[in-house]
Parts: sequence; C-alpha cells; structure tokens
Amino acid sequence: MMGYRKFDLFIWVLSVLCLGWLCSGFNPADIYLIDCGSPANTSVGNRVYVADNLASKFLSTPKDVVANISLKSITSFDDSPLYQTARIFTESSKYTFSISQSGRHWIRLYFYPFVFGGYDLSKAKFSVSTQNHVLLGDFSVQNASLVKEFSVNVTSDSLVITFTPSNNSFAFLNAIEVVSVPNQLITDDANNGLHGLTTHTQALETSWRVNMGGPTVSFEKDTLWRTWVPDQSFQVNANLAKYVSNIAAVTYDAGSALATKDIAPQTVYGTLTEMKSADDTNSNFNVSWEFTVDPGFQYLVRFHFCDVVSKSLYQLYFNVYLDSLIVARDLDLSTLATNKLAVPYYMDYVTTSAAVSNKLRISIGPSPLNNAYPNAILNGLEIMKLNNSAGSLGGANSLVPSSNSSSKSNVGVIVGAGVGSFIAVVLAAILFVLYRRRKRLADQGHSKTWLPFSINGTNSHTMGRKYGTTASAASNYSYRFPFGVVQEATNNFDESWVIGIGGFGKVYKGVLNDGTKVAVKRGNPRSQQGLAEFRTEIEMLSQFRHRHLVSLIGHCDDDSEMILVYEYMENGTLKSHLYGSGHPSLSWKQRLEVCIGAARGLHYLHTGCAKAIIHRDVKSANILLNENLMAKVADFGLSKKGPEIDQSHVSTAVKGSLGYLDPEYFRRKKLTEKSDVYSFGVVLFEVLCARPVLDPSLTKEMNLDEWAMEWQKKGQLEQIIDSTLAGKIRPDSLRKFGETAEKCLADCGVDRPSMGDVLWNLEYALQLQEAEIPGDAEENSTNTIGEQSPQVNNFQ
Ligand SMILES: *[C@@H]1O[C@H](CO)[C@@H](O)[C@H](O)[C@H]1NC(C)=O
Ligand SMILES: *[C@@H]1O[C@H](CO)[C@@H](O)[C@H](O)[C@H]1NC(C)=O
Ligand SMILES: *[C@@H]1O[C@H](CO)[C@@H](O)[C@H](O)[C@H]1NC(C)=O
Ligand SMILES: *[C@@H]1O[C@H](CO)[C@@H](O)[C@H](O)[C@H]1NC(C)=O
Ligand SMILES: *[C@@H]1O[C@H](CO)[C@@H](O)[C@H](O)[C@H]1NC(C)=O
Ligand SMILES: *[C@@H]1O[C@H](CO)[C@@H](O)[C@H](O)[C@H]1NC(C)=O
Ligand SMILES: *[C@@H]1O[C@H](CO)[C@@H](O)[C@H](O)[C@H]1NC(C)=O
Repeated sequence: MMGYRKFDLFIWVLSVLCLGWLCSGFNPADIYLIDCGSPANTSVGNRVYVADNLASKFLSTPKDVVANISLKSITSFDDSPLYQTARIFTESSKYTFSISQSGRHWIRLYFYPFVFGGYDLSKAKFSVSTQNHVLLGDFSVQNASLVKEFSVNVTSDSLVITFTPSNNSFAFLNAIEVVSVPNQLITDDANNGLHGLTTHTQALETSWRVNMGGPTVSFEKDTLWRTWVPDQSFQVNANLAKYVSNIAAVTYDAGSALATKDIAPQTVYGTLTEMKSADDTNSNFNVSWEFTVDPGFQYLVRFHFCDVVSKSLYQLYFNVYLDSLIVARDLDLSTLATNKLAVPYYMDYVTTSAAVSNKLRISIGPSPLNNAYPNAILNGLEIMKLNNSAGSLGGANSLVPSSNSSSKSNVGVIVGAGVGSFIAVVLAAILFVLYRRRKRLADQGHSKTWLPFSINGTNSHTMGRKYGTTASAASNYSYRFPFGVVQEATNNFDESWVIGIGGFGKVYKGVLNDGTKVAVKRGNPRSQQGLAEFRTEIEMLSQFRHRHLVSLIGHCDDDSEMILVYEYMENGTLKSHLYGSGHPSLSWKQRLEVCIGAARGLHYLHTGCAKAIIHRDVKSANILLNENLMAKVADFGLSKKGPEIDQSHVSTAVKGSLGYLDPEYFRRKKLTEKSDVYSFGVVLFEVLCARPVLDPSLTKEMNLDEWAMEWQKKGQLEQIIDSTLAGKIRPDSLRKFGETAEKCLADCGVDRPSMGDVLWNLEYALQLQEAEIPGDAEENSTNTIGEQSPQVNNFQ
C-alpha cells in the first residue's frame, strides 16, 4: 500500500529500549504502537505509543474526530495514559499496516468509554475486521477500560483493520498495537490435544490469561507484553486450594516440547495453585476454576505446568479436566520435563465442539497412580477463542476485562484502589474517628527498638509460601505479626471496630495484648491488586522513620493476607478537622502547626536520604493527627523513589487524588518532588478555607486550587477564609501563608519552592501570627519580628 517502507520509524523502539532478559531475544519484525487522538507520544513502560498525527499515514477515514478526556471528567487515574485520548469514527475507516514478515501478529485494541462533546463513547456500537476475519461484531464497551487482544496469521504484505459503525452509531478507539508474534508461540504440535485442528488459518482472541497462585504479572514483566491476572476470583472453592511460590527454582530447558520465556515468563511458572492436601494421604477432590466464555465458539486452552513443589522426581501424578472431559490422565511432569523438576512445560487442548454454556470449567485432581501424597498443580492457563467456520470471532459481546480489570475501573473510585490508598478516598467522610490512646505510643513509633511486645517463637513461624520471594524483601524491614495476633487484636476483625473503609479494604482499631492501641489495615484477601502498594508501604515506612511520618508497627502476610499495623492516631485525619465531621474547629495557630509538621515530614521524605522519595498522594486525608494534634504524613502506597541525579523526573502512569493533582504531572506524566509541593499547596488552601477540594458549591467546573488562586491573585484572600477564623488571622500571617500557597501552585514545577522553603515560610507565617500582642494589633510589631527573624528564608 502506498509504498510503506519496511522498517518504519516504530520498528526499532522496542529493541532500543529493551532491557536485558525481559526481551529474551525476541525482536518483533513489525511493531506499530499508536496512541489514537493523542497530540504527543505516550510512554507506557518501556514502549512509546506514537502521537496520532504521526500515525495519520496508516489511517484512511472520511471524517476526522479526535477526542480527549478532560482532566475534570477522568474518574480513575489508575488507568493507562492511553485511555486519555481517542479517535471517533463516524463512518467506516481503516488502518493499513505494511507487514515486513508474514506470520502471526498481535492486534491489541484499547478502549475506554468517556464522554467527549456530543459523543458518549459508551453508546458506540461497531464492528472491527481484518481482511480475513471479523474480530468484533456489533461491539460496545459499557463503563470499564478494556483491552481486546487478537492473534492472526498475516500472509499478505499488509494488514488492513477496518472499523465499521453499526446503524446510526459510531466507532472509537483509544490505542492500537500491531506486533509480530514469535512463530513458535502457536503451533500445531504443542503436545497434541488439537484433534487435527490446523492453527495456521486460525484467528484467536485471548479470553483469559491467568497466573495461578500468584499476583498479576504485568505486561512489563512479560517478553511479549502480555498481562496475566491472578486466579483467585475464578476458583470454584477457594478452601480447597493452596498457593505456592518458588520463582527462583524455575529452570527453562531447551527440550523441544518445553516452554521458553516467550511461552510464559518465569513469574508465571514459579507460582502455582495446588490441592490443599499436603498432610492427608486420603485426599481426593478436584481444584476447579470457572471462566465465562461466549457460547457458540470453540476454545484453545493452554495449560502451563512447572513442578516447583515436589521434593524429588516421580512423586506427582495428576489428572486434568476440561468440563467433564479428561484432558490428561496421570500427568507425569517429571518425565515430560526431561526428568527434571521445575522445568516449565505446557500443553494445548482444543474443545471438540462449540461451547453450549457460557462457562468453561477447568479442574485438576489427584490420580490414583502410585501417589503417596495426592496432589495436583496448575501454574498458568490461557483460554483463546477460535474463529467460527465463517472466520468470525464476533458474536455475543463478552467483554474481556483488561489488565486493569473490573474493580479498578469502577466509576466513582477516584484514586487507584490499593492497600496504600485505604485511608484515603472512597468513603472518606469519617476516617480514623479515633478514641483514646496511651500517650507513650506516639513516642514508641519512631524509636529503633519498636517491637511492641515479644512473641514466643516468631522465627518458627514460616513465611507464607505464597509470594515468599517477593514479600521477603519487605519483611526484612518490618516486624511480622502472626495472623492470630492480629485477629486477637482486632477482636477477630470485629465490624464494629472498623474506623475507616477504603477502596481496597477496611481499617480496624486494634489493641495488642500489652495494651498498645494500633490501627490495622487489612487488604481484601481475595484480591491481589494491592500487593505492590502493600510492599511499597512496608518498605517506605520501615526505612524512613521520622516524628512526622506515621509509624508502621508491623505487617502480616500469612496465607494471602495483606495486613499493615500502624501506630494509632488519636485525632484522625486533618480533613476531618476542617469540615464535614463536627469536630471543633482548629485555631489558626493549630492549623499552622499542623501544616508545619506535615511539611517537615515531606521535607524529610524529599531530602532525608540519598534518593528523594515522592509521596504522590499528599492530601488532607493523608495527614493524621495524634493526641497532641501533632501532624504525621500517612499512606505511602503510591510513593516512588525519585529521579537519579542524572535525570530530572520519574516517568510514570498518573496516580494521585482528584483535586490535588499537579497539572504538569498530569500533562507530562513526569513525576518530581514538585508534584508533592503542588498537592501540599492545595492542602494549604483547604486548611485556610475549610472547604473540600472538589466542592460542588464553588463556581461550576472549578476546583479549590483554581478558585482560591483567583482570590489570592486579586489580593482578597480574606474573603474566602474559614468563617470561624474571621478576624483571628494577622494580615501579615495571612499574606505570607497566601503567598506560600500560591507559589506551591505555580504551573511549572521549576517555579515552585522546595518543601524546605515551604517549611520556613510557614514558620515565618506562624511567627507573624504569634507576634501579636493581645489587644495590640499594630502592624509594626509584626514587621519588627519578621525582620529580626534569622530563620526567614524567602523564595526570592
Ligand atoms: C515520537 O516517537 C517517534 C517514534 O519513536 C519518534 O520518531 C518521534 O521523534 C517522537 N516524537 C516526539 C515529539 O518525541
Ligand atoms: C482536547 O480537545 C480540545 C478540543 O478539541 C482541544 O482544544 C484541546 O487542546 C485538547 N487537549 C489536549 C490535551 O489534547
Ligand atoms: C440496520 O439498518 C437496516 C436498514 O435500516 C436494517 O435492515 C437492519 O436491521 C439494521 N441493523 C441493525 C443491527 O439494527
Ligand atoms: C501462516 O500461514 C501460512 C500459510 O498458510 C503458513 O505457511 C504459516 O506456517 C503460518 N504461520 C503460523 C505461525 O501459523
Ligand atoms: C474431578 O472432576 C472430573 C470432571 O468433572 C470428575 O469426573 C471427577 O470425578 C472429579 N474427581 C473428584 C475426586 O471429584
Ligand atoms: C477459522 O477461519 C478459517 C478461515 O480463515 C477457517 O479455515 C477455519 O476453519 C476457521 N476455524 C474454525 C474452527 O472454524
Ligand atoms: C458497569 O456496567 C455493568 C454492566 O453493564 C454494571 O453491572 C455495573 O454496575 C456498571 N458499573 C458502574 C460503576 O456503572
């Protein structure tokens, strides 16, 4: 077509950016990554999706509509940056890609239905097809982000992907990806099971890709950019299953029928789900999973195995079932995997007829053969839909969730849900409505010997096997509580002891058996999404101890628990003292002291160690107050290590809380400490005005930061201060405070002060306030103090 050169500008992106083993040698001959509608290139992990205008030569469309999501309408910052722009097709439109090497190619289509102008993308209805196959028929996307992944064998020198709106509707697309697939990935001899099917002409759609017994394996950890989701939510009876992790043991072998890193990564083969039967030699039951599928299609099911549990060879024999059919009897991995343990092995199986129900059940169970300890394992599973005899994959519109599946894209969840975000967001009205606690606790938190009490034989308590390798780094830092102790401390997670609920679970009040009060955050045990945040928080909080950072007392990762135990903060969140919860209003001096304390905590994070730590979620709900109203910064789940000296930013997907988000970070996805400074500036105005950052009663479409800045620029800040402070703030103190907040909210990070400068200026504002002699409100007295102060360190 139109003379496309073979090696286009995109081809080298991956090879240039490829990091070590991640690529394991596979260099896709064709690679096209396009961020539709985007005015600029977008980096995701180590890949660059090019701007829409650079991709216009691939697109032929009778009409141009480029859409972008506005900062205000975005609901989940956890979503990929690819979802922020889209292309809308009101008439049939096609992308044409030249193909330099025939063979299988992945087509990944990204969808996120937002509202743009007159287009509600969730109302779009359309079909997508290639020259030979219908990929999607009468398709629509309701309310969640979604990635559709297809694999087709392209034998011509171009691949044409056509988007056709259904009657009176339109089509849309947020991003598109066409990438070569290694030829060995789908073959006709993947250890039988294909019943004579030839895969050459098959179009496949990935329905499910699951990592048994382990957390999500993100695309960055997969040589072929696949995402593997955890298996818990598919289990029929989770009580029968047990998880094992031994990633280091996995040894790829060159044998012909064996798996390579391209078949599935080590992190998939290194974790598994097995029968919870270890000690009972009479165990006889199946472990089963159930997957929703489209009826009317056949499926190619790929099973991944790797025996990282057996102590010696020829111990493990088991059966594998698909619905009621036996797929493999007395499966003997030791023999199949070249008489070695821990060698990855996979096999394919094609369902013999089109599915009649919308459920596909996979089971594993013990074989009666010579099984001293009955067991059965499964490490990974892929379910791929095969095109029907008409060459089509379209049909019922089953929506396969993307890597960001269901729970993350819930509209209304403002921040990416995660253990780290517990205290924060969703039901933030009353968090940490706390009770009385002992005074000594506050000091206990930051001393080095902070084990709250001793437990006999803690060493005999082995690490949970699941995540053994990943969690252990964290547990070097933090005290590990046995689950029973946490259970006892929270009165067995008594619902009436809940003091906060977040996107990812609950926060309980707790009392350890020595009387120490604690706050216990418990991640939903069935969800793995918060694991990264869980570990980040443990690492951050155990390494960085400071009187203005909330102390972590310990954690618990028994079984699949993700529990964090913190010092108890008597007075709850700063937010609850500003509005909405009936606490007595804080004086101006108290507010300044709280801001100063929080600024000290953040200043320490930014400068206290070799590498700056960026908190990323600074807001009034993450500043907690102890019994003396001393402020401590909390919630480090989103924290990131700052840039190396030779770089000036960390590039990352946008996370944070609506209303506090640095606009520069949002635009450029580049994170520096100055993003925290921006958020802190919003907190300063929140403290001054005692208003929520997203206040519907403000002028329409305006957040607190914009609104307060308008008044500050007019020099009329006193018009909008909390009415309970009216007449109680010295004009000088207010002016200093307003200037400080204004500088924090500068559009460009470089124009914002450092946290250290903010701190000094707040201290100055406090001095200006305290200089007031009762009954003598003369300006002169404060000016004198200001000039004499040795600590004053203005921005200029
Ligand atoms: C966008 O990416 C393409 C391909 O990697 C590159 O050639 C181009 O220079 C980039 N544009 C910008 C503005 O970075
Ligand atoms: C979003 O679209 C509007 C209207 O087309 C345009 O004015 C604006 O520049 C776009 N913003 C971005 C970030 O692309
Ligand atoms: C589309 O419109 C045509 C003609 O108006 C009609 O025959 C057909 O049934 C419609 N298809 C759908 C899916 O609504
Ligand atoms: C693609 O199709 C061609 C022609 O049918 C066949 O020779 C080739 O082996 C196929 N490639 C793959 C990876 O299936
Ligand atoms: C396991 O599942 C298969 C297929 O449904 C069934 O035939 C078999 O009896 C089950 N085994 C046990 C022990 O329940
Ligand atoms: C899928 O489509 C191809 C034509 O591209 C056809 O040869 C093949 O039989 C179809 N597969 C099934 C399972 O019907
Ligand atoms: C999303 O759509 C599904 C199915 O239409 C619905 O059950 C669910 O409630 C929706 N979620 C939200 C947050 O609107």
